[in-house]
Amino acid sequence: MSPLNTNNIVQNNDSPKFKVTIIGSGNWGSVASKLIASNTIKLPSFYDEVKMWVFEEILPSGEKLTDVINRTNENVKYLPGIKLGSNVVADPDLENAVRDANMLVFVTPHQFMEGICKRLIGKTRSDAQAISLIKGMEVKKEGPCMISTLISQQLGVNCCVLMGANIANEIAVEKFSEATVGYRGNREIAETWVQLFSTPYFMVSACQDVEGVELCGTLKNVVAIAAGFVDGLDMGNNTKGVSTAKEVYEVLKHKGWLEMFPLFTTVHEICTGRLPPTAIVEYSELAPKSPLTSGPNLFQ
Ligand SMILES: NC(=O)c1ccc[n+]([C@@H]2O[C@H](COP(=O)([O-])OP(=O)(O)OC[C@H]3O[C@@H](n4cnc5c(N)ncnc54)[C@H](O)[C@@H]3O)[C@@H](O)[C@H]2O)c1
Repeated sequence: MSPLNTNNIVQNNDSPKFKVTIIGSGNWGSVASKLIASNTIKLPSFYDEVKMWVFEEILPSGEKLTDVINRTNENVKYLPGIKLGSNVVADPDLENAVRDANMLVFVTPHQFMEGICKRLIGKTRSDAQAISLIKGMEVKKEGPCMISTLISQQLGVNCCVLMGANIANEIAVEKFSEATVGYRGNREIAETWVQLFSTPYFMVSACQDVEGVELCGTLKNVVAIAAGFVDGLDMGNNTKGVSTAKEVYEVLKHKGWLEMFPLFTTVHEICTGRLPPTAIVEYSELAPKSPLTSGPNLFQ
């Protein structure tokens, strides 16, 4: 049995203990910190404290944004009125913020990522895992580069993604939403990310397809229809595009995959009137209870 060791964080039972740092503190980064902090404080496999790297700004009051976040527990500029969790610690020093973390959550606008990655080369733990919540891609002369690829290549870390039809301000006030973790091969780490982000109002499942999930994060029209139904039920706002739901349904039916994609199936059945709009918040009961163990074809 190894004792708790802060250089190579392990618990007595040899399972890793996770220390999370969020790189980014805008609208979505702040909501991510709220989700994560609510889980690290109750899950024994995580350290309670969640560091959040803040691109320092001076507020009109003359105060530093970081100081105000740490004093009030609110990101008054990017997510005013929402408590992040007393275990969130804002840090303006990027290197310091990532130094001890073995779980790195990247959530800045994508145009800053190349510069951030350059600053982080050689500064992250060798056993760190990463996840990107960033939509968009780096477009270069050689072709497009997904942000998860940029992070993996520059920092030499395994990088998952978390994407969904997510509107930060709605999730901040705990309106129902869902997201998918895209992972490459390691189911255990995918399960850890699912645990870290899941709350009763933020349903997270996992799929062994980083690029597919990352691309779908931007091509999310069908999921947006679902949010439109939720809007009709006075639970949120979003955009709509109905014929795609039918096309997707037909592909899934042809492949025999309807049960594996209950959201798409339910959206189409609501569009055709076979199900009432209220089915949108019930469809998850059809989904595999443990997406990492009982959703067979999703993970092969
Ligand atoms: N907001 C949403 O509802 C939402 C939902 C899902 C995904 N996303 C994705 O999350 C990512 C972050 O979006 P957001 O809404 O949090 O962004 P935002 O526009 O709210 O935040 C901008 C952030 O960038 C920082 N910043 C400004 N200049 C910078 C610089 N030079 N270097 C580094 N950081 C700098 C700001 O301090 C701020 O923290 C994006 O890729 C977005 O597509 C956003």
